[in-house]
Amino acid sequence: MTTYTHASSPSIDVFPNHRLNPINRNIYAGFTEHMGRCIYGGIYDPENPNNELVDENGFRKDSSAIQASGNFCATYHWEDGVGPRDKRPAFPELAWGTVETNQFGTDEFMKWCKIVGAEPYLCLNFGTGTLDEALHWLDYCNGTKNTKYANLRRANGHPEPYNVKYWALGNEMWGDWQIEQLTAAAYAEKAHQWAKALKLLDPSIQLILCGAEGANSWDYTVLKHCIRATKKDDLGEERKPLIDMHSIHLYTASYDHYENVTAPLAAERNIEVASAFIDTAYYEAQIPASQPRPLICFDEWNVWMPARAVGSSGAEEDYTLSDALAVGVWLNIFVRKSADVAMANIAQSVNVLSPLMTKKDGSGIVKQTTWGPYELFCKYMKGHLIAVQLACDDYKGKTFKDYTRVTRKTPYLDVSATYDDTEGMVNLCVVNMHKEDDYDTKLGGVSGKVQVFEVNGEAIDVTNMKGEQKVDIQEKEAEVKEGRYVFPKHSVTLLRWKA
Ligand code: AHR
Repeated sequence: MTTYTHASSPSIDVFPNHRLNPINRNIYAGFTEHMGRCIYGGIYDPENPNNELVDENGFRKDSSAIQASGNFCATYHWEDGVGPRDKRPAFPELAWGTVETNQFGTDEFMKWCKIVGAEPYLCLNFGTGTLDEALHWLDYCNGTKNTKYANLRRANGHPEPYNVKYWALGNEMWGDWQIEQLTAAAYAEKAHQWAKALKLLDPSIQLILCGAEGANSWDYTVLKHCIRATKKDDLGEERKPLIDMHSIHLYTASYDHYENVTAPLAAERNIEVASAFIDTAYYEAQIPASQPRPLICFDEWNVWMPARAVGSSGAEEDYTLSDALAVGVWLNIFVRKSADVAMANIAQSVNVLSPLMTKKDGSGIVKQTTWGPYELFCKYMKGHLIAVQLACDDYKGKTFKDYTRVTRKTPYLDVSATYDDTEGMVNLCVVNMHKEDDYDTKLGGVSGKVQVFEVNGEAIDVTNMKGEQKVDIQEKEAEVKEGRYVFPKHSVTLLRWKA
């Protein structure tokens, strides 16, 4: 929680004892798709001539993630991707116009998740797929009985169930690019019917409803229809919503620096609006308060300029320092909104719109400008959200999708803070979006020595993709003297101190 007031001299007051909700580590999750070089050449790279970068499974050892989804799912038939590899069929892939060889399927994804320590999250084919096929996939992954698909998994060499907990009910079913696009009402009814059947087969799973951008009538319609209680009065069971999370997606970008760095704030507003839709549906369905309220799964987010990184060419971005600041703002938002957001997945994890790039000659990886803030948040911004009071001046220009029309301000400093319970440390992340001004800031709630991690570079348009690491994390120690710290222009700074 960051409260903000306009002021000409900046100040940040941190309240380490004002602990709010715990932060779900899944807000730093990743997303993978059979798109461009994300899977083939990204996480799976058996042809790589550099043996030391690839393990015996053909997996790259220098990259990682969690969710498998995207437009690709709308024609994906999971059964084509299991069993002996030389027997797996290849099919035209319609979302990105390639050929899917099915060499990397369910068992490979599960093995890879296990190796990198990630929890799998799968998306069901709501396009050309059937409910039967979805049930069979769930049984293949999680089944423990003597059934056809649990036995198929065993026959493929995997005696233990994978216990896949997270399942998405389709991807962007509202989009006109989607194969078998649906109206909100048609999607909502289909999702409800599939959810009922899937939970009958495995009540332990979590189902993620397909939302739009959050502040959209699609979100309202599908939530209103699907957050409704199952009722098993005869069994004396409590009413439970079938839906566990609501997915929203947003990509932001602009060639204008200020529009680019303030753009993620639109997502903050979308989270607030979608949360209000969730609450309305939850109240109206009269779900008992003892049942958890569904939360938001922001399962695709990032900076993406489609004109710069074309989807059908693999969407390889060349991120600037300005984009790194935008990613810092994105991550601050997930921390600030961590009471409402249970999971967030950077799209994507390798090569496609990614902070991590494998070099095309197979010789290693490049960390893009956006890697710095992502790494810092994953490492340090955990534990509990804590309260912060921010005062500074604000940017008054044009914003992404003109979202400031809804009473929002865009302060030049963007801030969130956490208390890391396990290490007894306070973490304060400050993005100074200003391209010319350092912010000499009065800091309340901290004095003495602090650890500093700063992501910065010589200008907002520098990138790391031209052979040189121009933007990186600089680590140092500093003294907060007389309660002041200077946040340099165009930087992401993480200050860390003992509580
Ligand atoms: O991440 C690239 C694409 O963006 C995904 O396939 C889709 O879900 C979204 O439109």
